[in-house]
Amino acid sequence: MYVEELFENNKEWVKQVLNSDPNFFAKLANQQSPKFLWIGCSDSRVPANQITGLAPGEVFVHRNIANLMVHTDLNALSVLQFAVDILQVEHVIVCGHYGCSGVLAGLTNKRLGLVDVWLRHLKDVAYQHSTYLGSIHQSQKHDRLCEINVVEQVKNTCHTNVVQDAWARGQKLSIHGIIYGIHDGLLRDLNMHINNEEELQTKYNQYIQSLSNSDTETETA
Ligand code: CO
Repeated sequence: MYVEELFENNKEWVKQVLNSDPNFFAKLANQQSPKFLWIGCSDSRVPANQITGLAPGEVFVHRNIANLMVHTDLNALSVLQFAVDILQVEHVIVCGHYGCSGVLAGLTNKRLGLVDVWLRHLKDVAYQHSTYLGSIHQSQKHDRLCEINVVEQVKNTCHTNVVQDAWARGQKLSIHGIIYGIHDGLLRDLNMHINNEEELQTKYNQYIQSLSNSDTETETA
């Protein structure tokens, strides 16, 4: 595909949009007021708007490799701060996906270059859960770490100053952890819907507990 095709596609898209709503762009030009912030993976197969059926203007998006919320990442933190404080989004969605090669890097020692520095965060998550990961079948490790990583990034997001301050001043803000199946196009709920610090502790502990329970099931099966 050549870049020229992108311009052709764009003209076609504008035509279609204007056909169904002649004022679409005029309305959006004034302001954006999305209800959602999406923190997802850069993977080209996981486009936030398309898989959620959201139109331009409906979701503020931050994507990086392996959907990480790192406490020293000024880029992600700026997006979060702008979304929460200025745009007043009500929902932050941390979306991982199965088959994430960034997550896989957390399980292997393959060197890829500069990105290894970024993926060190993933290795830390894998290390933190190494007892559980060591207890399950090799074929399950990648998928489970994709899920665990979402839960850990939900926790990191909740622990940012931005979210803590929003909750402290009584702002309505929920952080959600979900995961997408590249193989079937479906989003799955990881049952991490967090509205305050207390809920974070409860749901996070429940999740960690469920991991050790599933260990036992595997062992006795
Ligand atoms: Co990915």
